Amino acid sequence: MRYFLLCIFGASLLHSATVVKVDKMFAKSSKCKSCHLPIVNEWKNSWHSKSHYKNDEYLRKSIDYVSKKSRKSLNGVKIDCATCHNPRVAVTSSGMDYEIDALMGLDKDSKVNKALASDAISEGINCVVCHNIDKIHKKKPESIRGINRIEWTKSGLMSGPYKDAHSPYHKVQYRDFMSKDSNNLCFVCHANDRSIKKLTFINMKKEFAGSKKLCVECHMGKKKLGVASTLKIDHGKAKKRKIRVHSFKGAHFEDMVKDSLALEVKQNKATLMIILKNKLPHNVPSGFGSREVVIDLVYFSKTKILKKESISLTRHYTDRRKRPTIAHLAKKQSKDMSIKAYSQKVLKVKAFKGANMLKVILSYRLVNDEVRDLLKLQDPIWSQKMPISHTTIKLN
Ligand code: HEC
Ligand code: HEC
Ligand code: HEC
Ligand code: HEC
Ligand code: HEC
Repeated sequence: MRYFLLCIFGASLLHSATVVKVDKMFAKSSKCKSCHLPIVNEWKNSWHSKSHYKNDEYLRKSIDYVSKKSRKSLNGVKIDCATCHNPRVAVTSSGMDYEIDALMGLDKDSKVNKALASDAISEGINCVVCHNIDKIHKKKPESIRGINRIEWTKSGLMSGPYKDAHSPYHKVQYRDFMSKDSNNLCFVCHANDRSIKKLTFINMKKEFAGSKKLCVECHMGKKKLGVASTLKIDHGKAKKRKIRVHSFKGAHFEDMVKDSLALEVKQNKATLMIILKNKLPHNVPSGFGSREVVIDLVYFSKTKILKKESISLTRHYTDRRKRPTIAHLAKKQSKDMSIKAYSQKVLKVKAFKGANMLKVILSYRLVNDEVRDLLKLQDPIWSQKMPISHTTIKLN
Protein backbone atom coordinates (compact mmCIF):
# COMPACT_ATOMS: atom_id res chain seq x y z
CA MET A 1 0.00 0.00 0.00
CA ARG A 2 2.71 2.41 0.95
CA TYR A 3 4.56 1.64 -2.27
CA PHE A 4 1.37 2.28 -4.24
CA LEU A 5 0.84 5.63 -2.53
CA LEU A 6 4.41 6.63 -3.20
CA CYS A 7 3.96 5.79 -6.85
CA ILE A 8 0.89 8.00 -7.17
CA PHE A 9 2.59 10.80 -5.30
CA GLY A 10 5.71 10.47 -7.42
CA ALA A 11 3.72 10.51 -10.64
CA SER A 12 1.80 13.59 -9.65
CA LEU A 13 5.01 15.40 -8.72
CA LEU A 14 6.44 14.53 -12.10
CA HIS A 15 3.63 16.37 -13.83
CA SER A 16 2.96 19.19 -11.46
CA ALA A 17 3.78 22.70 -12.49
CA THR A 18 6.54 24.87 -11.07
CA VAL A 19 5.23 28.27 -10.11
CA VAL A 20 7.22 31.36 -11.09
CA LYS A 21 6.11 34.58 -9.48
CA VAL A 22 5.43 37.40 -11.96
CA ASP A 23 6.84 40.78 -10.98
CA LYS A 24 4.31 43.65 -10.67
CA MET A 25 5.99 45.31 -13.65
CA PHE A 26 4.57 42.62 -15.96
CA ALA A 27 1.63 40.96 -14.24
CA LYS A 28 -1.17 43.04 -15.77
CA SER A 29 -1.69 44.06 -19.40
CA SER A 30 -1.93 47.73 -18.36
CA LYS A 31 1.85 47.63 -17.88
CA CYS A 32 2.32 46.91 -21.59
CA LYS A 33 0.07 49.71 -22.83
CA SER A 34 2.66 52.44 -23.16
CA CYS A 35 4.45 50.47 -25.91
CA HIS A 36 1.91 47.87 -27.13
CA LEU A 37 -1.45 49.68 -26.87
CA PRO A 38 -3.12 48.26 -30.04
CA ILE A 39 -2.27 44.69 -28.98
CA VAL A 40 -3.60 45.22 -25.46
CA ASN A 41 -6.90 46.56 -26.87
CA GLU A 42 -7.28 43.68 -29.32
CA TRP A 43 -6.62 41.09 -26.64
CA LYS A 44 -9.09 42.81 -24.22
CA ASN A 45 -11.86 42.09 -26.73
CA SER A 46 -11.01 38.40 -26.86
CA TRP A 47 -12.37 35.66 -24.63
CA HIS A 48 -8.85 34.86 -23.44
CA SER A 49 -9.14 38.05 -21.35
CA LYS A 50 -12.47 36.89 -19.84
CA SER A 51 -11.21 33.53 -18.63
CA HIS A 52 -11.80 34.13 -14.92
CA TYR A 53 -14.55 33.20 -12.45
CA LYS A 54 -15.65 36.86 -12.30
CA ASN A 55 -15.75 37.58 -16.01
CA ASP A 56 -17.44 34.70 -17.82
CA GLU A 57 -20.93 33.68 -16.62
CA TYR A 58 -20.72 30.28 -18.29
CA LEU A 59 -17.36 29.48 -16.68
CA ARG A 60 -18.50 30.73 -13.26
CA LYS A 61 -21.74 28.75 -13.24
CA SER A 62 -19.94 25.65 -14.51
CA ILE A 63 -17.44 25.88 -11.67
CA ASP A 64 -20.27 26.35 -9.15
CA TYR A 65 -22.09 23.35 -10.62
CA VAL A 66 -19.04 21.07 -10.58
CA SER A 67 -18.40 22.01 -6.95
CA LYS A 68 -22.01 21.39 -5.93
CA LYS A 69 -22.34 18.06 -7.72
CA SER A 70 -18.89 16.64 -6.95
CA ARG A 71 -18.92 17.94 -3.35
CA LYS A 72 -15.47 19.40 -3.81
CA SER A 73 -14.89 22.87 -2.35
CA LEU A 74 -15.51 25.79 -4.72
CA ASN A 75 -11.88 26.89 -4.48
CA GLY A 76 -10.66 23.35 -5.02
CA VAL A 77 -12.55 23.28 -8.33
CA LYS A 78 -11.30 26.74 -9.25
CA ILE A 79 -7.73 25.48 -8.83
CA ASP A 80 -8.45 22.47 -11.08
CA CYS A 81 -9.86 24.68 -13.82
CA ALA A 82 -7.04 27.20 -13.42
CA THR A 83 -4.68 24.70 -15.10
CA CYS A 84 -5.85 26.18 -18.41
CA HIS A 85 -8.15 29.07 -17.46
CA ASN A 86 -5.93 30.93 -14.96
CA PRO A 87 -2.44 29.58 -15.53
CA ARG A 88 -0.56 32.21 -13.47
CA VAL A 89 -2.22 31.06 -10.24
CA ALA A 90 0.32 30.76 -7.39
CA VAL A 91 -0.96 27.39 -6.11
CA THR A 92 -1.49 24.65 -8.68
CA SER A 93 -3.14 21.91 -6.65
CA SER A 94 -5.29 22.06 -3.53
CA GLY A 95 -5.29 18.56 -2.05
CA MET A 96 -7.15 16.72 0.71
CA ASP A 97 -5.83 18.88 3.55
CA TYR A 98 -7.36 21.91 1.93
CA GLU A 99 -10.68 20.13 1.42
CA ILE A 100 -10.83 19.33 5.14
CA ASP A 101 -9.92 22.91 6.12
CA ALA A 102 -12.52 24.28 3.70
CA LEU A 103 -15.18 21.99 5.11
CA MET A 104 -14.44 23.21 8.65
CA GLY A 105 -14.18 26.85 7.64
CA LEU A 106 -10.47 27.01 8.48
CA ASP A 107 -9.33 28.00 5.00
CA LYS A 108 -9.58 31.81 5.32
CA ASP A 109 -5.86 32.53 5.44
CA SER A 110 -4.81 29.56 3.35
CA LYS A 111 -2.41 29.82 0.42
CA VAL A 112 -5.15 28.52 -1.89
CA ASN A 113 -7.60 31.30 -1.00
CA LYS A 114 -4.92 33.97 -1.27
CA ALA A 115 -3.75 32.67 -4.65
CA LEU A 116 -7.31 32.71 -6.03
CA ALA A 117 -8.06 36.18 -4.69
CA SER A 118 -4.94 37.65 -6.28
CA ASP A 119 -5.54 40.44 -8.78
CA ALA A 120 -2.67 39.04 -10.87
CA ILE A 121 -4.88 36.24 -12.26
CA SER A 122 -7.98 38.36 -12.86
CA GLU A 123 -7.08 38.78 -16.54
CA GLY A 124 -7.22 35.07 -17.29
CA ILE A 125 -5.05 34.20 -20.27
CA ASN A 126 -3.10 37.42 -20.57
CA CYS A 127 0.26 38.47 -22.09
CA VAL A 128 2.42 36.80 -19.45
CA VAL A 129 0.69 33.46 -20.01
CA CYS A 130 1.64 32.97 -23.67
CA HIS A 131 4.75 35.17 -23.73
CA ASN A 132 6.24 33.75 -20.55
CA ILE A 133 6.24 30.17 -21.76
CA ASP A 134 9.82 29.02 -22.03
CA LYS A 135 9.37 25.37 -22.95
CA ILE A 136 6.53 23.09 -24.01
CA HIS A 137 7.01 19.43 -23.06
CA LYS A 138 6.35 17.20 -26.01
CA LYS A 139 6.84 13.84 -24.34
CA LYS A 140 4.45 14.10 -21.42
CA PRO A 141 1.25 12.02 -21.76
CA GLU A 142 -1.40 13.68 -23.93
CA SER A 143 -3.71 14.11 -20.94
CA ILE A 144 -1.24 16.47 -19.24
CA ARG A 145 -2.24 19.99 -20.32
CA GLY A 146 -2.08 23.66 -19.44
CA ILE A 147 0.45 24.62 -16.76
CA ASN A 148 1.48 21.01 -16.29
CA ARG A 149 2.77 20.85 -19.87
CA ILE A 150 4.98 23.93 -19.86
CA GLU A 151 7.82 25.70 -18.08
CA TRP A 152 7.81 29.41 -17.38
CA THR A 153 10.53 31.92 -18.23
CA LYS A 154 12.02 34.06 -15.47
CA SER A 155 9.80 37.04 -14.77
CA GLY A 156 10.55 39.83 -17.26
CA LEU A 157 11.74 37.61 -20.10
CA MET A 158 9.29 37.57 -23.05
CA SER A 159 9.21 34.76 -25.61
CA GLY A 160 8.34 36.17 -29.02
CA PRO A 161 8.38 35.62 -32.78
CA TYR A 162 11.43 37.80 -33.60
CA LYS A 163 15.10 36.85 -33.52
CA ASP A 164 16.39 40.44 -33.45
CA ALA A 165 14.13 42.35 -31.05
CA HIS A 166 15.34 44.59 -28.21
CA SER A 167 13.28 46.27 -25.58
CA PRO A 168 14.27 48.67 -22.80
CA TYR A 169 11.50 47.32 -20.56
CA HIS A 170 11.98 43.57 -20.67
CA LYS A 171 14.28 40.88 -21.97
CA VAL A 172 13.26 38.95 -25.10
CA GLN A 173 13.91 35.54 -26.60
CA TYR A 174 12.85 33.84 -29.83
CA ARG A 175 10.76 30.67 -29.67
CA ASP A 176 9.50 28.43 -32.52
CA PHE A 177 6.12 28.10 -30.81
CA MET A 178 5.72 31.86 -31.24
CA SER A 179 6.33 31.70 -34.99
CA LYS A 180 6.42 28.70 -37.31
CA ASP A 181 5.19 26.14 -34.76
CA SER A 182 2.57 28.22 -33.01
CA ASN A 183 0.00 25.39 -33.08
CA ASN A 184 2.04 23.79 -30.30
CA LEU A 185 1.29 26.82 -28.16
CA CYS A 186 -2.45 26.59 -28.80
CA PHE A 187 -2.50 22.84 -28.13
CA VAL A 188 -1.09 23.41 -24.63
CA CYS A 189 -4.72 24.08 -23.66
CA HIS A 190 -6.90 23.48 -26.73
CA ALA A 191 -6.65 19.70 -26.53
CA ASN A 192 -7.80 16.93 -24.30
CA ASP A 193 -10.30 18.66 -22.08
CA ARG A 194 -11.49 15.88 -19.73
CA SER A 195 -14.31 15.36 -17.28
CA ILE A 196 -13.71 14.40 -13.65
CA LYS A 197 -14.50 10.85 -14.82
CA LYS A 198 -11.59 11.10 -17.31
CA LEU A 199 -13.88 11.26 -20.32
CA THR A 200 -12.24 13.28 -23.10
CA PHE A 201 -15.01 15.49 -24.43
CA ILE A 202 -12.87 17.64 -26.66
CA ASN A 203 -9.55 17.26 -28.40
CA MET A 204 -8.76 19.84 -31.04
CA LYS A 205 -5.33 18.39 -31.60
CA LYS A 206 -6.88 15.10 -32.71
CA GLU A 207 -9.51 16.81 -34.86
CA PHE A 208 -6.75 18.79 -36.49
CA ALA A 209 -4.47 15.87 -37.31
CA GLY A 210 -3.09 16.08 -40.80
CA SER A 211 -3.75 19.76 -41.37
CA LYS A 212 -0.72 21.98 -41.91
CA LYS A 213 -2.73 25.14 -41.27
CA LEU A 214 -1.77 27.42 -38.42
CA CYS A 215 -4.50 28.31 -35.92
CA VAL A 216 -3.20 31.88 -35.88
CA GLU A 217 -3.86 32.32 -39.65
CA CYS A 218 -7.57 32.49 -38.83
CA HIS A 219 -7.62 33.39 -35.14
CA MET A 220 -4.99 36.16 -35.32
CA GLY A 221 -5.33 36.92 -39.05
CA LYS A 222 -2.75 36.97 -41.85
CA LYS A 223 0.58 38.68 -41.21
CA LYS A 224 0.50 42.35 -42.12
CA LEU A 225 2.95 45.21 -42.04
CA GLY A 226 2.63 47.23 -38.84
CA VAL A 227 4.51 47.77 -35.59
CA ALA A 228 5.08 45.32 -32.76
CA SER A 229 5.84 48.20 -30.41
CA THR A 230 4.89 51.86 -30.73
CA LEU A 231 8.15 52.88 -29.01
CA LYS A 232 10.37 54.93 -31.34
CA ILE A 233 13.35 52.59 -31.55
CA ASP A 234 14.12 52.86 -35.28
CA HIS A 235 15.79 56.24 -36.05
CA GLY A 236 13.13 58.18 -34.19
CA LYS A 237 10.27 56.03 -35.49
CA ALA A 238 8.49 52.86 -34.44
CA LYS A 239 10.04 49.86 -36.15
CA LYS A 240 8.07 48.28 -39.03
CA ARG A 241 7.34 44.60 -38.57
CA LYS A 242 5.20 41.81 -39.91
CA ILE A 243 2.51 41.37 -37.24
CA ARG A 244 -0.79 39.60 -36.55
CA VAL A 245 -3.92 40.78 -34.69
CA HIS A 246 -4.41 39.58 -31.09
CA SER A 247 -8.16 39.14 -31.60
CA PHE A 248 -8.51 35.36 -30.97
CA LYS A 249 -12.04 35.57 -32.31
CA GLY A 250 -13.93 32.28 -32.23
CA ALA A 251 -17.47 31.04 -31.81
CA HIS A 252 -18.50 34.06 -29.71
CA PHE A 253 -18.30 36.31 -32.79
CA GLU A 254 -20.86 36.36 -35.60
CA ASP A 255 -18.37 37.34 -38.29
CA MET A 256 -16.31 34.21 -37.52
CA VAL A 257 -19.25 31.84 -37.27
CA LYS A 258 -20.39 32.91 -40.77
CA ASP A 259 -17.23 31.42 -42.25
CA SER A 260 -17.64 27.95 -40.81
CA LEU A 261 -20.15 25.95 -42.92
CA ALA A 262 -21.51 25.94 -46.46
CA LEU A 263 -25.17 24.95 -46.88
CA GLU A 264 -26.88 23.28 -49.81
CA VAL A 265 -30.38 21.74 -49.98
CA LYS A 266 -31.53 19.25 -52.65
CA GLN A 267 -34.79 17.42 -53.20
CA ASN A 268 -35.03 13.82 -54.32
CA LYS A 269 -38.72 12.94 -54.59
CA ALA A 270 -40.11 13.03 -51.04
CA THR A 271 -36.66 13.27 -49.44
CA LEU A 272 -34.77 16.47 -48.73
CA MET A 273 -31.03 16.39 -48.43
CA ILE A 274 -29.41 19.05 -46.30
CA ILE A 275 -25.71 19.15 -47.12
CA LEU A 276 -23.35 20.82 -44.66
CA LYS A 277 -19.73 21.33 -45.71
CA ASN A 278 -17.15 22.21 -43.12
CA LYS A 279 -14.51 24.52 -44.56
CA LEU A 280 -12.36 24.46 -41.43
CA PRO A 281 -9.51 22.23 -40.25
CA HIS A 282 -11.37 21.49 -37.00
CA ASN A 283 -14.88 20.21 -36.30
CA VAL A 284 -17.96 22.46 -36.19
CA PRO A 285 -19.21 22.73 -33.54
CA SER A 286 -16.04 22.15 -31.59
CA GLY A 287 -14.21 23.69 -28.70
CA PHE A 288 -16.11 23.44 -25.49
CA GLY A 289 -18.78 20.72 -25.18
CA SER A 290 -22.52 21.63 -25.53
CA ARG A 291 -22.03 24.04 -28.42
CA GLU A 292 -24.72 23.57 -31.05
CA VAL A 293 -25.45 23.91 -34.75
CA VAL A 294 -29.17 24.49 -35.35
CA ILE A 295 -31.03 23.90 -38.62
CA ASP A 296 -34.47 25.52 -38.81
CA LEU A 297 -36.81 24.37 -41.57
CA VAL A 298 -39.80 26.51 -42.50
CA TYR A 299 -42.30 25.04 -45.00
CA PHE A 300 -44.54 27.38 -46.98
CA SER A 301 -47.56 27.10 -49.20
CA LYS A 302 -47.21 30.34 -51.18
CA THR A 303 -46.75 32.89 -48.36
CA LYS A 304 -48.44 30.92 -45.61
CA ILE A 305 -46.27 29.06 -43.11
CA LEU A 306 -47.40 25.43 -42.92
CA LYS A 307 -44.87 23.95 -40.55
CA LYS A 308 -41.68 24.68 -38.65
CA GLU A 309 -39.12 22.11 -37.66
CA SER A 310 -35.75 22.29 -35.94
CA ILE A 311 -32.77 19.95 -36.02
CA SER A 312 -30.03 20.21 -33.40
CA LEU A 313 -26.46 19.04 -33.88
CA THR A 314 -24.95 18.96 -30.41
CA ARG A 315 -23.68 16.63 -27.76
CA HIS A 316 -25.36 15.47 -24.56
CA TYR A 317 -23.64 14.31 -21.41
CA THR A 318 -24.81 12.00 -18.65
CA ASP A 319 -23.52 11.25 -15.15
CA ARG A 320 -23.09 7.83 -13.57
CA ARG A 321 -26.82 7.67 -12.86
CA LYS A 322 -27.53 8.46 -16.52
CA ARG A 323 -28.94 11.88 -15.70
CA PRO A 324 -28.20 14.87 -17.96
CA THR A 325 -25.16 16.82 -16.83
CA ILE A 326 -22.43 19.15 -18.11
CA ALA A 327 -19.33 17.95 -19.94
CA HIS A 328 -17.02 18.30 -16.92
CA LEU A 329 -19.03 15.86 -14.81
CA ALA A 330 -19.83 13.40 -17.58
CA LYS A 331 -19.32 9.68 -17.42
CA LYS A 332 -20.78 9.19 -20.90
CA GLN A 333 -21.42 11.34 -23.94
CA SER A 334 -23.86 10.95 -26.83
CA LYS A 335 -22.73 10.41 -30.40
CA ASP A 336 -20.60 13.14 -31.92
CA MET A 337 -22.95 15.06 -34.25
CA SER A 338 -20.39 17.65 -35.36
CA ILE A 339 -19.28 18.08 -38.93
CA LYS A 340 -15.71 16.81 -39.09
CA ALA A 341 -12.79 18.93 -40.30
CA TYR A 342 -12.88 19.52 -44.11
CA SER A 343 -15.80 17.07 -44.43
CA GLN A 344 -19.45 17.11 -45.26
CA LYS A 345 -22.51 15.77 -43.53
CA VAL A 346 -25.74 14.94 -45.29
CA LEU A 347 -28.98 15.02 -43.28
CA LYS A 348 -32.03 13.43 -44.83
CA VAL A 349 -35.53 14.60 -43.92
CA LYS A 350 -38.99 13.85 -45.28
CA ALA A 351 -40.46 16.83 -47.13
CA PHE A 352 -43.69 18.13 -45.61
CA LYS A 353 -46.63 17.24 -47.84
CA GLY A 354 -48.47 20.10 -49.49
CA ALA A 355 -45.63 22.62 -49.14
CA ASN A 356 -44.28 24.29 -52.27
CA MET A 357 -41.39 26.17 -50.72
CA LEU A 358 -38.83 25.55 -47.98
CA LYS A 359 -36.57 27.97 -46.20
CA VAL A 360 -33.56 26.47 -44.39
CA ILE A 361 -31.77 28.58 -41.81
CA LEU A 362 -28.45 27.40 -40.44
CA SER A 363 -27.17 28.91 -37.20
CA TYR A 364 -24.78 28.43 -34.30
CA ARG A 365 -25.51 28.55 -30.59
CA LEU A 366 -22.90 28.70 -27.84
CA VAL A 367 -24.86 26.57 -25.35
CA ASN A 368 -27.64 24.07 -26.05
CA ASP A 369 -31.03 24.20 -24.25
CA GLU A 370 -30.18 21.38 -21.87
CA VAL A 371 -27.05 22.94 -20.39
CA ARG A 372 -28.48 26.48 -20.40
CA ASP A 373 -31.28 25.12 -18.22
CA LEU A 374 -29.02 23.10 -15.92
CA LEU A 375 -26.80 26.12 -15.26
CA LYS A 376 -29.55 28.77 -15.45
CA LEU A 377 -27.49 30.93 -17.79
CA GLN A 378 -28.98 34.45 -18.08
CA ASP A 379 -26.96 36.44 -20.58
CA PRO A 380 -28.64 36.38 -24.02
CA ILE A 381 -25.33 35.57 -25.76
CA TRP A 382 -25.64 31.93 -24.70
CA SER A 383 -29.08 31.36 -26.29
CA GLN A 384 -28.82 33.65 -29.30
CA LYS A 385 -28.75 31.93 -32.69
CA MET A 386 -25.88 33.33 -34.71
CA PRO A 387 -26.58 33.11 -38.44
CA ILE A 388 -24.26 30.97 -40.56
CA SER A 389 -26.23 30.71 -43.78
CA HIS A 390 -29.73 30.28 -45.23
CA THR A 391 -31.32 29.18 -48.47
CA THR A 392 -34.78 28.81 -50.00
CA ILE A 393 -35.83 26.12 -52.46
CA LYS A 394 -38.98 25.42 -54.43
CA LEU A 395 -40.45 22.01 -53.72
CA ASN A 396 -42.16 19.86 -56.25
C1 HEC B 1 -2.98 33.05 -26.42
C2 HEC B 1 -1.59 33.42 -26.52
C3 HEC B 1 -1.21 34.89 -26.58
C4 HEC B 1 -1.60 35.91 -25.72
C5 HEC B 1 -2.57 35.82 -24.57
C6 HEC B 1 -0.89 37.09 -26.14
N1 HEC B 1 -0.11 36.81 -27.22
FE1 HEC B 1 1.18 38.08 -28.14
N2 HEC B 1 1.55 36.69 -29.58
C7 HEC B 1 1.10 35.38 -29.56
C8 HEC B 1 1.58 34.69 -30.75
C9 HEC B 1 1.30 33.23 -31.10
C10 HEC B 1 2.34 35.63 -31.48
C11 HEC B 1 3.09 35.40 -32.78
C12 HEC B 1 2.18 35.40 -33.99
C13 HEC B 1 2.95 35.14 -35.25
O1 HEC B 1 3.80 35.95 -35.59
O2 HEC B 1 2.71 34.13 -35.88
C14 HEC B 1 2.32 36.88 -30.71
C15 HEC B 1 2.99 38.05 -31.07
C16 HEC B 1 3.18 39.14 -30.24
C17 HEC B 1 4.03 40.28 -30.52
C18 HEC B 1 4.82 40.48 -31.80
C19 HEC B 1 4.03 41.34 -32.78
C20 HEC B 1 2.77 40.74 -33.29
O3 HEC B 1 1.69 41.25 -32.95
O4 HEC B 1 2.81 39.72 -34.01
C21 HEC B 1 3.93 41.14 -29.44
C22 HEC B 1 4.64 42.48 -29.26
C23 HEC B 1 2.99 40.55 -28.50
N3 HEC B 1 2.55 39.34 -29.02
C24 HEC B 1 2.59 41.12 -27.30
C25 HEC B 1 1.50 40.68 -26.55
C26 HEC B 1 0.88 41.43 -25.48
C27 HEC B 1 1.31 42.81 -25.00
C28 HEC B 1 -0.15 40.66 -25.01
C29 HEC B 1 -1.16 40.99 -23.92
C30 HEC B 1 -2.04 42.15 -24.16
C31 HEC B 1 -0.14 39.42 -25.76
N4 HEC B 1 0.84 39.49 -26.70
C32 HEC B 1 -1.00 38.33 -25.52
C33 HEC B 1 0.33 34.80 -28.58
C34 HEC B 1 -0.28 35.48 -27.53
C1 HEC C 1 8.85 50.80 -22.60
C2 HEC C 1 8.26 50.10 -23.72
C3 HEC C 1 7.79 48.68 -23.55
C4 HEC C 1 6.95 48.16 -22.58
C5 HEC C 1 6.32 48.88 -21.39
C6 HEC C 1 6.74 46.77 -22.93
N1 HEC C 1 7.42 46.46 -24.07
FE1 HEC C 1 7.37 44.70 -25.09
N2 HEC C 1 8.65 45.42 -26.49
C7 HEC C 1 9.13 46.71 -26.53
C8 HEC C 1 9.99 46.89 -27.68
C9 HEC C 1 10.70 48.16 -28.08
C10 HEC C 1 10.00 45.64 -28.36
C11 HEC C 1 10.74 45.28 -29.64
C12 HEC C 1 9.92 45.67 -30.83
C13 HEC C 1 10.60 45.36 -32.14
O1 HEC C 1 11.76 44.94 -32.15
O2 HEC C 1 9.94 45.55 -33.18
C14 HEC C 1 9.14 44.75 -27.58
C15 HEC C 1 8.90 43.43 -27.93
C16 HEC C 1 8.01 42.61 -27.27
C17 HEC C 1 7.71 41.25 -27.66
C18 HEC C 1 8.27 40.50 -28.86
C19 HEC C 1 9.59 39.88 -28.46
C20 HEC C 1 10.26 39.05 -29.54
O3 HEC C 1 11.47 38.76 -29.36
O4 HEC C 1 9.66 38.66 -30.52
C21 HEC C 1 6.81 40.78 -26.73
C22 HEC C 1 6.21 39.40 -26.71
C23 HEC C 1 6.58 41.83 -25.77
N3 HEC C 1 7.31 42.93 -26.13
C24 HEC C 1 5.72 41.72 -24.69
C25 HEC C 1 5.52 42.72 -23.75
C26 HEC C 1 4.63 42.58 -22.62
C27 HEC C 1 3.82 41.35 -22.30
C28 HEC C 1 4.67 43.76 -21.93
C29 HEC C 1 3.91 44.12 -20.65
C30 HEC C 1 4.12 43.24 -19.52
C31 HEC C 1 5.61 44.63 -22.61
N4 HEC C 1 6.09 43.96 -23.70
C32 HEC C 1 5.93 45.92 -22.20
C33 HEC C 1 8.87 47.72 -25.61
C34 HEC C 1 8.07 47.58 -24.50
C1 HEC D 1 -3.14 28.70 -21.34
C2 HEC D 1 -4.14 28.01 -22.10
C3 HEC D 1 -4.44 28.49 -23.51
C4 HEC D 1 -3.56 28.72 -24.54
C5 HEC D 1 -2.04 28.55 -24.53
C6 HEC D 1 -4.35 29.15 -25.67
N1 HEC D 1 -5.69 29.19 -25.31
FE1 HEC D 1 -7.24 29.80 -26.48
N2 HEC D 1 -8.51 29.62 -24.90
C7 HEC D 1 -8.19 29.07 -23.68
C8 HEC D 1 -9.36 29.11 -22.81
C9 HEC D 1 -9.42 28.59 -21.39
C10 HEC D 1 -10.40 29.72 -23.55
C11 HEC D 1 -11.83 30.00 -23.07
C12 HEC D 1 -11.89 31.23 -22.25
C13 HEC D 1 -13.30 31.60 -21.86
O1 HEC D 1 -14.20 31.62 -22.73
O2 HEC D 1 -13.54 31.90 -20.67
C14 HEC D 1 -9.83 30.02 -24.87
C15 HEC D 1 -10.53 30.60 -25.92
C16 HEC D 1 -10.04 30.71 -27.22
C17 HEC D 1 -10.83 31.12 -28.36
C18 HEC D 1 -12.26 31.57 -28.33
C19 HEC D 1 -13.13 30.44 -28.68
C20 HEC D 1 -14.56 30.82 -28.76
O3 HEC D 1 -15.37 29.94 -28.50
O4 HEC D 1 -14.90 31.97 -29.06
C21 HEC D 1 -10.01 31.04 -29.46
C22 HEC D 1 -10.37 31.36 -30.90
C23 HEC D 1 -8.71 30.60 -29.01
N3 HEC D 1 -8.78 30.40 -27.63
C24 HEC D 1 -7.62 30.41 -29.83
C25 HEC D 1 -6.33 30.15 -29.37
C26 HEC D 1 -5.17 30.10 -30.22
C27 HEC D 1 -5.18 30.33 -31.72
C28 HEC D 1 -4.10 29.83 -29.42
C29 HEC D 1 -2.65 29.66 -29.82
C30 HEC D 1 -2.00 30.84 -30.43
C31 HEC D 1 -4.60 29.72 -28.05
N4 HEC D 1 -5.96 29.91 -28.07
C32 HEC D 1 -3.83 29.44 -26.92
C33 HEC D 1 -6.96 28.60 -23.29
C34 HEC D 1 -5.78 28.77 -24.02
C1 HEC E 1 -9.18 28.13 -41.69
C2 HEC E 1 -9.42 28.95 -40.53
C3 HEC E 1 -9.25 28.31 -39.14
C4 HEC E 1 -8.17 27.63 -38.64
C5 HEC E 1 -6.87 27.28 -39.35
C6 HEC E 1 -8.49 27.33 -37.25
N1 HEC E 1 -9.73 27.81 -36.94
FE1 HEC E 1 -10.65 27.72 -35.13
N2 HEC E 1 -12.33 28.55 -35.93
C7 HEC E 1 -12.43 29.10 -37.19
C8 HEC E 1 -13.77 29.65 -37.37
C9 HEC E 1 -14.30 30.34 -38.63
C10 HEC E 1 -14.47 29.42 -36.17
C11 HEC E 1 -15.93 29.82 -35.83
C12 HEC E 1 -16.87 28.71 -36.19
C13 HEC E 1 -16.93 27.63 -35.16
O1 HEC E 1 -17.05 27.92 -33.99
O2 HEC E 1 -16.83 26.46 -35.53
C14 HEC E 1 -13.53 28.74 -35.28
C15 HEC E 1 -13.82 28.33 -33.98
C16 HEC E 1 -12.85 27.95 -33.05
C17 HEC E 1 -13.10 27.72 -31.65
C18 HEC E 1 -14.47 27.75 -31.01
C19 HEC E 1 -15.10 26.46 -31.41
C20 HEC E 1 -16.41 26.18 -30.85
O3 HEC E 1 -17.25 25.60 -31.61
O4 HEC E 1 -16.62 26.47 -29.69
C21 HEC E 1 -11.91 27.37 -31.07
C22 HEC E 1 -11.67 27.03 -29.62
C23 HEC E 1 -10.91 27.38 -32.12
N3 HEC E 1 -11.52 27.72 -33.30
C24 HEC E 1 -9.58 27.08 -31.94
C25 HEC E 1 -8.70 26.78 -32.98
C26 HEC E 1 -7.41 26.18 -32.81
C27 HEC E 1 -6.79 25.81 -31.48
C28 HEC E 1 -6.87 26.01 -34.07
C29 HEC E 1 -5.57 25.35 -34.45
C30 HEC E 1 -5.37 24.02 -33.93
C31 HEC E 1 -7.83 26.57 -35.01
N4 HEC E 1 -8.93 26.99 -34.31
C32 HEC E 1 -7.66 26.65 -36.39
C33 HEC E 1 -11.45 29.10 -38.16
C34 HEC E 1 -10.23 28.44 -38.06
C1 HEC F 1 -7.08 21.24 -20.55
C2 HEC F 1 -7.35 22.64 -20.39
C3 HEC F 1 -8.65 23.04 -19.72
C4 HEC F 1 -9.07 22.73 -18.44
C5 HEC F 1 -8.32 21.95 -17.37
C6 HEC F 1 -10.37 23.35 -18.28
N1 HEC F 1 -10.72 24.01 -19.44
FE1 HEC F 1 -12.46 25.00 -19.78
N2 HEC F 1 -11.83 25.49 -21.65
C7 HEC F 1 -10.61 25.15 -22.20
C8 HEC F 1 -10.51 25.70 -23.53
C9 HEC F 1 -9.31 25.58 -24.46
C10 HEC F 1 -11.73 26.39 -23.78
C11 HEC F 1 -12.12 27.13 -25.05
C12 HEC F 1 -12.93 26.29 -25.98
C13 HEC F 1 -13.98 27.06 -26.68
O1 HEC F 1 -14.22 28.23 -26.37
O2 HEC F 1 -14.65 26.49 -27.55
C14 HEC F 1 -12.54 26.22 -22.58
C15 HEC F 1 -13.83 26.72 -22.43
C16 HEC F 1 -14.61 26.54 -21.31
C17 HEC F 1 -15.97 27.02 -21.20
C18 HEC F 1 -16.73 27.83 -22.23
C19 HEC F 1 -16.59 29.29 -21.93
C20 HEC F 1 -17.33 30.20 -22.86
O3 HEC F 1 -17.21 31.43 -22.67
O4 HEC F 1 -18.01 29.76 -23.78
C21 HEC F 1 -16.41 26.63 -19.95
C22 HEC F 1 -17.78 26.90 -19.36
C23 HEC F 1 -15.34 25.92 -19.30
N3 HEC F 1 -14.26 25.88 -20.17
C24 HEC F 1 -15.41 25.37 -18.03
C25 HEC F 1 -14.35 24.73 -17.40
C26 HEC F 1 -14.41 24.23 -16.03
C27 HEC F 1 -15.61 24.34 -15.11
C28 HEC F 1 -13.20 23.64 -15.77
C29 HEC F 1 -12.74 22.93 -14.52
C30 HEC F 1 -13.64 21.92 -14.00
C31 HEC F 1 -12.39 23.77 -16.99
N4 HEC F 1 -13.13 24.45 -17.93
C32 HEC F 1 -11.12 23.27 -17.12
C33 HEC F 1 -9.62 24.40 -21.59
C34 HEC F 1 -9.69 23.86 -20.33
